[in-house]
Amino acid sequence: MKRLYLTAFCGIALATTGCAQTTLKKAFQKDFLIGAALNPAQFCEADSAETAIVKRQFNSISPENALKWERVHPEPGEFDFTLADRYVDFGVTNKMFTIGHTLVWHSQTPDWVFKDADGKPATREVLLQRMREHILAVAGRYRGKIGGWDVVNEALNGDGSLRNSPWRKIIGDDYIARAFEFAHEADPQAELYYNDYALEDKAKRSGAVALVKQLQAQGVKITGVGLQGHYLLGEPSAAQVDETISAFEKLGLKVMITELDVNVLPTPGQALSADVSERYRMGAGLNPYTNGLPDAVQQRLAQRYAELFSVFLKHRASVSRVTFWGVTDGDSWLNDWPIPGRMSYPLLFNRDGRPKPCFQAVVESARQPSNVKSAAGSAANPATDGHR
Ligand code: XIL
Repeated sequence: MKRLYLTAFCGIALATTGCAQTTLKKAFQKDFLIGAALNPAQFCEADSAETAIVKRQFNSISPENALKWERVHPEPGEFDFTLADRYVDFGVTNKMFTIGHTLVWHSQTPDWVFKDADGKPATREVLLQRMREHILAVAGRYRGKIGGWDVVNEALNGDGSLRNSPWRKIIGDDYIARAFEFAHEADPQAELYYNDYALEDKAKRSGAVALVKQLQAQGVKITGVGLQGHYLLGEPSAAQVDETISAFEKLGLKVMITELDVNVLPTPGQALSADVSERYRMGAGLNPYTNGLPDAVQQRLAQRYAELFSVFLKHRASVSRVTFWGVTDGDSWLNDWPIPGRMSYPLLFNRDGRPKPCFQAVVESARQPSNVKSAAGSAANPATDGHR
């Protein structure tokens, strides 16, 4: 009788919470870290259901917005670490590999950064000094707590040339090398990454490879390259992802998928873009799944995730982390980008926090015989060992 009750209870619990399922971090424990980008409700533990998912499923976290320049350094000489401290405390308390995102970027950086007291463009010297002050204050504050920093985010154009951001216009091409040097000065132990989207496109990838080679030739410390991984159902192809990871691992770098999501909604702009300044108005047919995701699309999403994870697993020796950009579909930035107010389905957990078929597909990818390590290759991933 007792056993019957227990079985019935577990059945209900399983159906409602997926509690008996293996977890993401467990499924990939010998392969790579599994991360999620968190919002304040999650790392301040205000949303207890989502916080529970984070603690159970993930062993690495990224701050979705809490460490961006506009949040921590809104005015000259004025820092606000209230939320950033909570984020880092959450990571340290829960022994998660805690990521800093991001030190030098052209978006979500206040205008004053690039101006002098008269509102004219700042000089190279002033901007370099500001960059150093910012990096030393922010990365220095979390020295020994934040394990890896996205030092420079999105410095490249689609054709592989350097984006003419205010950073480049004012400082010159060497702003990237300087940012990495300042980050190394702030925390000599931290891993330092270059992070970007659409590196799967050949031209942009070649630009990134050239950039990394140049940094390496100058003796600048760079630990890894982050592929943001804002993907679509059909793009980029598995072969492109495979080639991209290979290109960076050949340079002796760690590779991480830093902002993974798979957008199933129509994309009015460029296929592989994640340019936050892109905006489109809602139009007919652009928000097709307001009543839920049809089964057929749900299945395609699951297959797509399985395909992507087999590529990541193939490169487990160099891929140190796979981080999702959000926890549940309800959190995703894709509900508001590039069109505000859509219903998106890009992540592994649905709006109620339940695992979707793509969760199962991802977990099963770790057990596929073709993806499982051979006896010879069964040593733990050096990239995930010894992280702080
Ligand atoms: C996004 C956040 O998710 C949004 O909340 C915010 O409004 C805009 O930025 N590439 C990045 C991330 O490196 O910082 C962006 O995050 C998504 C694209």
